[in-house]
Amino acid sequence: MRRVPGVRWVNGDGGLDAAAVTAAFPGRYGLYLHVPFCERICPFCPYNKVPYRPERADAYFRALRGEIAAYRSAGAGPFTSLYVGGGTPTLCLEALAEMLASVPVEGERAIEVLPAHATPAGVARLREAGFDRVSLGVQSFDDRVLRHLGRAGSGDENRAALEACRGRFACVDADLIFDTAFEDPAVFPADVEECCRLEVDQISTYPLMRFGYTPFGRAPHAPRLERDLLRRAFALAEGYGYRRASVWSLRRAGAPGFSSITREFYLGLGAGAATFTGSLYLVNHFSPERYVEAVAAGRLPVTRTARLAPRAAAAYYLFWQAYAGGFDPARARALFPEAGRLPGAVAGVGRAFRWLERDGGGVALTRRGFDRYHGLERWVTYRFIEPLWEQMMAEHREEPAVAGGGQVKITLEVNAEAESYDDAVRRTVSENATQLGFEQQAFEE
Ligand SMILES: C[S@@+](CC[C@H](N)C(=O)[O-])C[C@H]1O[C@@H](n2cnc3c(N)ncnc32)[C@H](O)[C@@H]1O
Ligand code: SF4
Repeated sequence: MRRVPGVRWVNGDGGLDAAAVTAAFPGRYGLYLHVPFCERICPFCPYNKVPYRPERADAYFRALRGEIAAYRSAGAGPFTSLYVGGGTPTLCLEALAEMLASVPVEGERAIEVLPAHATPAGVARLREAGFDRVSLGVQSFDDRVLRHLGRAGSGDENRAALEACRGRFACVDADLIFDTAFEDPAVFPADVEECCRLEVDQISTYPLMRFGYTPFGRAPHAPRLERDLLRRAFALAEGYGYRRASVWSLRRAGAPGFSSITREFYLGLGAGAATFTGSLYLVNHFSPERYVEAVAAGRLPVTRTARLAPRAAAAYYLFWQAYAGGFDPARARALFPEAGRLPGAVAGVGRAFRWLERDGGGVALTRRGFDRYHGLERWVTYRFIEPLWEQMMAEHREEPAVAGGGQVKITLEVNAEAESYDDAVRRTVSENATQLGFEQQAFEE
């Protein structure tokens, strides 16, 4: 774990229980639930996920119900908001809906949706389950980009999914990925424009992050080209009445937002979920099997605990508030009184460099500030998030790849999507990599 001043990591739950974690929240907080299953693993994806198997999901949801029950008995909730992420939560919508029926949530209820699941019937089920905000992993409308990413589905399927969701939720978000290594730079602005035409409420545009532990592997970035592409695409969307809502997202005027990370405080449940109480940062076991085991044994399923000094906690808070466009130093001082003048100092320095400007009682990022933040976000991702997740993913490798351990047989699937024998091998290995714990290096040799 990288050393950060003011952050003390320990393995395991650090002697905490659900009551101690619940008591550490200084005020109200949101709920995050992680569903780590996918039917098909995308080779570029760094998130915590494993191939879906129904019996695996059943055991997982039993544990999730156990984890929430432990926190509820300790007095957790009602929650200010709900965010269900993955993985592919829509693979387990019925189990989710049943579980959530008894979880008190006062505000928005958001969920990540695989476009293939956003059929008219799927949309109806999402609404019945109480979700009012959805985010669709569109990535692109261009089939060449989807193939480049090794992503299943098609541009037409993505369009149909967004059409099925339009007007049915308070906010429909579309995730787009752009990769500067893709040969045609006109595709990304065209994708953004397509979202505008489809009247998507929020467009989240992610520069492709290359995490060394994914089958996609590391590759050099072109930060200037990324910034230029973002500027072009954002200018285009502004012509359709969209406004920048965060470093990488745009929102239609008047539409409510869709966001996971910018809650002030949150309780995270499920494999790989993180909790931030303001003074504690907890990371749950990434391996669903380890997670299930810990909950069944009556323990917190926590693999790492960090105790944060007030300034470190305030810095974490300011970083994510700035991601969403700005912060109010007075609010930050109220939440982290022991951090002293840090929020005011950050606002002052940011204004001196013209990264921040006054906005009501707080400060907002300027265009120059957003450009800077783009670089900072990448730096934080590669310096802190990737090493942490890489360590956590090692849990997947420690387990037998197949129940009973021993040999693993992979059938090479030469399907319609494969363009050549090599491509078929790459796709098959990619799809199985997480489960088998392969590393990029291993199959490059
Ligand atoms: C958990 S996934 C979304 C839900 C669902 N599993 C799906 O794929 O549609 C969250 C989003 O992260 C983004 N993402 C995944 N891997 C990424 C990467 N390597 N770089 C940038 N964004 C990425 C994608 O846009 C994806 O839609
Ligand atoms: S991007 Fe692909 S692998 Fe990642 S969570 Fe979504 S469906 Fe699963």
